[in-house]
Amino acid sequence: MPTVYLNGQFLPLEEARVPVMDRGFLFGDGVYEVIPVYSRRPFRQREHLDRLQASLDGIRLENPHSVQEWEGLIGRIVELAESEDQGVYLQVTRGPGPRDHAFPKTILPTVFILPMPLSPPSPELVAHGIAAVTARDNRWLRCDIKSTSLLPNVLLRQYSVDAGCAETLLLRDGCLAEGAASNIFVVLDGCLLAPPKSNLMLPGITYDVVLELAQQGGFPHCVRPIPEAELRAASEVWLTSSTKEVLAVTTLDGQHVGCGRPGPLFRRMHAAYQDYKHKVMRGND
Ligand code: PDD
Repeated sequence: MPTVYLNGQFLPLEEARVPVMDRGFLFGDGVYEVIPVYSRRPFRQREHLDRLQASLDGIRLENPHSVQEWEGLIGRIVELAESEDQGVYLQVTRGPGPRDHAFPKTILPTVFILPMPLSPPSPELVAHGIAAVTARDNRWLRCDIKSTSLLPNVLLRQYSVDAGCAETLLLRDGCLAEGAASNIFVVLDGCLLAPPKSNLMLPGITYDVVLELAQQGGFPHCVRPIPEAELRAASEVWLTSSTKEVLAVTTLDGQHVGCGRPGPLFRRMHAAYQDYKHKVMRGND
């Protein structure tokens, strides 16, 4: 049973309780982060904490902790965790109050940190890639906020499960936005394309790493809107997230992407990502 952090206390998960009047429970009124930890070293922790701040600003909730305090709390959770690798989930809600949509006068935010098992994608998954489906993006217009109000993402992700696939790629106004729980890249005519950050997608931490590695590795790349026709004509499609790292999408809506196997640019990027990750794990990031 993992040790979790809840509102000032470290305690076993089964003893952690929140009031039913918590606005996270009633309204999904909160934000979260998932920070991958390798060999007990948080990966891009500062960037995740900066994005947490942006999400809190986006929902007008004061950050209950300084960066140093967050680092201390996460550090303790990582120390107490059983395995060396973790996906550290942290959540801040607007806390308990009477059920009224408007913010309560007194805010006592709920802070929860949970270490989750993290296993990198299997070699088979990396070698074969995943199948995905597309759907119309029916989420709100602040997808840049990492909000715990995830009902549309939950339904869109389940749509792929029901189709026997691993992810749903979301299209809005004729362009690719992102995945239900990931960012998406496309390779077209040898050039890596990424949708530009906007209110229509989460600014992924892994997305940033992949673009940095593309820059360093001399990959031809371009950040610009990706029309649906280009997604369908792509020779490679990739998915990125903190838990999935970089994976190739090899089947889209039942059709092969390119030749139906992870492409050459993917293999280069996957190798670059693993090198970078191992550098971070050894502490010479
Ligand atoms: N999800 N877009 C969405 C909608 C996401 O939910 C995620 C990650 C990403 C990728 O962001 P990052 O590279 O920072 O993990 C993009 C996390 C892992 C989750 O909800 O579990």
